[in-house]
Amino acid sequence: MAKTSSSPLNLLLLLSPLSFLLSMAQSPIPAHYDGFLYGAVSPWEASVLVEAFMDPMCPDSRDAWPSLKQAFQHYSPLVSLIVHPFPLPYHDNSYLTCRALHIANMLNISTTFPLLEFFFDHQKKWSNSATQYMSKQSIINDITKHVSLVIGNSSISAFQSGFADSHTDKAARVSFRYGCSRGVAGTPYFFVNGFLLPGGGSALDYKQWRKIIDPLLTRAEGQIESTII
Ligand SMILES: *[C@@H]1O[C@H](CO)[C@@H](O)[C@H](O)[C@H]1NC(C)=O
Ligand SMILES: *[C@@H]1O[C@H](CO)[C@@H](O)[C@H](O)[C@H]1NC(C)=O
Repeated sequence: MAKTSSSPLNLLLLLSPLSFLLSMAQSPIPAHYDGFLYGAVSPWEASVLVEAFMDPMCPDSRDAWPSLKQAFQHYSPLVSLIVHPFPLPYHDNSYLTCRALHIANMLNISTTFPLLEFFFDHQKKWSNSATQYMSKQSIINDITKHVSLVIGNSSISAFQSGFADSHTDKAARVSFRYGCSRGVAGTPYFFVNGFLLPGGGSALDYKQWRKIIDPLLTRAEGQIESTII
């Protein structure tokens, strides 16, 4: 009776497709945590960390931004906010604009959020229908021309060459993969202290933010008191 099932070769044959799949599922670890910190409150100092996955070309992300900012300002410095760019595949220019945010962030970190707001305000300019007959290069040129208002005329050429720099492509891909790894399937998606808020894909108004964050801060205060006592 030849009993082959326990031979090391069989075990290897059994495991190798598995390890192949595992290596497929694993992306290289980036050197920095993904996303852009809004304001100056470090996530390790604030009680509550809000993470927002947003697409610069998504109307729901645009609608979510003012109330999120208002809530952030209300709670500052007890809340920190990280925005992760997340390009949705059905907005044709999302990936380009997410990459543009990474370029701005690398050139001058204070232009990242003004640029995000600029994209929110001018979504129609780079909508699917507005750009359906344009080449990718002419869209890049058009974006560059317009964003000089935000990044300054002296940064135009650096900004444009950012689109040819593989680092900015990598950074935008990391953002995308990171969102996927957390189950993001639309924008805006919000996580509070690492936990996904229900209703992903739609904007939250200021009152809703207050309802979510107020109880967390009360509980955090209680914890501080109980450790002192
Ligand atoms: C960075 O951007 C800010 C805001 O637009 C601007 O005030 C500042 O001068 C810029 N810094 C440099 C080094 O270009
Ligand atoms: C940037 O360039 C545009 C056109 O080339 C010009 O109209 C504008 O005044 C310039 N802005 C600054 C701040 O120099």
